[in-house]
Amino acid sequence: KLNELEELEKAHPEFFDPNSPTQRVGSDINSSFKQVKHQYPMLSLSNTYSEGEVMDFYERTRKSLNADFELVCELKYDGSSISLIYENGILTRSITRGDGEMGDDVTSNVKTIRSIPLRLQGDDFPEKFEIRGEILMPWTVFDELNKEREEQEEPLLANPRNAAAGTLKMQNSAEVAKRKLDGYFYYLLGENLPSNLHSENLYFARKWGFKVSDAIKVCKKPEDVFEFLSRWNVERKNLPVATDGVVIKVNSAVQQRNLGFTAKSPRWAIAYKFQAEQAV
Ligand code: IVH
Repeated sequence: KLNELEELEKAHPEFFDPNSPTQRVGSDINSSFKQVKHQYPMLSLSNTYSEGEVMDFYERTRKSLNADFELVCELKYDGSSISLIYENGILTRSITRGDGEMGDDVTSNVKTIRSIPLRLQGDDFPEKFEIRGEILMPWTVFDELNKEREEQEEPLLANPRNAAAGTLKMQNSAEVAKRKLDGYFYYLLGENLPSNLHSENLYFARKWGFKVSDAIKVCKKPEDVFEFLSRWNVERKNLPVATDGVVIKVNSAVQQRNLGFTAKSPRWAIAYKFQAEQAV
C-alpha cells in the first residue's frame, strides 16, 4: 500500500503532503509497520564508567532503601531492544523500542527467530506478561554477511547492532529468516510474575523456553559487583554476540517500586560501560 501511495504522489506532485506516511524516512519508526503504544514505556539506563560511579549508585540505593538489598549483575547485550507479549503462553506481539512510547509491530519478523519460543513450555507462566530483551546478530553471521557484501561490492554493515536493527525492519520476513538472528531476554513485566525477585523471574523465563544468559550474579556487596565487572570485561570476548557493558539492578521488585523512576530511567538500575566500548 505504501508503494501505491508513493506512485500516486509521484504522478500527482500537486497533492504533496508533508504529513504523508511516505515522508517518514530516517526515523526509527518505519511507516510500513503498524505502530503500537507500549503498555510500559521502554526506558534507557543511566551510564557509568568507573567503579567509583558504581559505588555512588550503591550508596545512593542503600540510603534510599535503608534496608538490606541485593543487586543483580548481567551483561549488557548490544543489539536492538524488543518487547514480546505472551498471552496464554502464545507469542502475540513483538514491538521495537521506537521512541520508548511507541514502537513498530515486527511480530512476523520476530517469529522467524528460531530461539524465540512461539509457545511456552510448562504451565506456570502468567496469563499475560511482557518480556524484554535484545535481538542480536551473532558475530559469525555478521562476518559472513559482510563477506558476501564485499564480494558483491555492496556497502559493508558497520556493526552487528545496526545489522540486527536493519534486519528487524525488513519488509520480507523470509529474508529475515535467512539472517539467523538470536534473542537474549532479561526483564519481565506484568501483574502476576512468579517471584518478587528479578533473578528468580529470569530462572522461570529460562524454564519457559527463553534464552537467558548464564552470566548472572546476585550480589550482596559492592566487591561482588566489581568481581563480575572485571571477570566479564575479559570473558565477554569469547561470547558469540556483542556486549558493551554490565547492567546492575536491584533484585527485589518491591524495592524497585520504592526506588521508582526519573523522567528517563529507573533509579533501581544502571549500566556500566566497558572501557573498550566507551568511545563507541
Ligand atoms: S534492563 C528499565 N538488562 O540497554 C531498564 N537492559 O540503556 C530495563 N540492555 O533499553 C532494561 N542488556 O535495550 C536491561 N541485561 C540487560 C540489558 C539491557 C542490554 C539494553 C536495553 C535497554 C538499554 C538501556
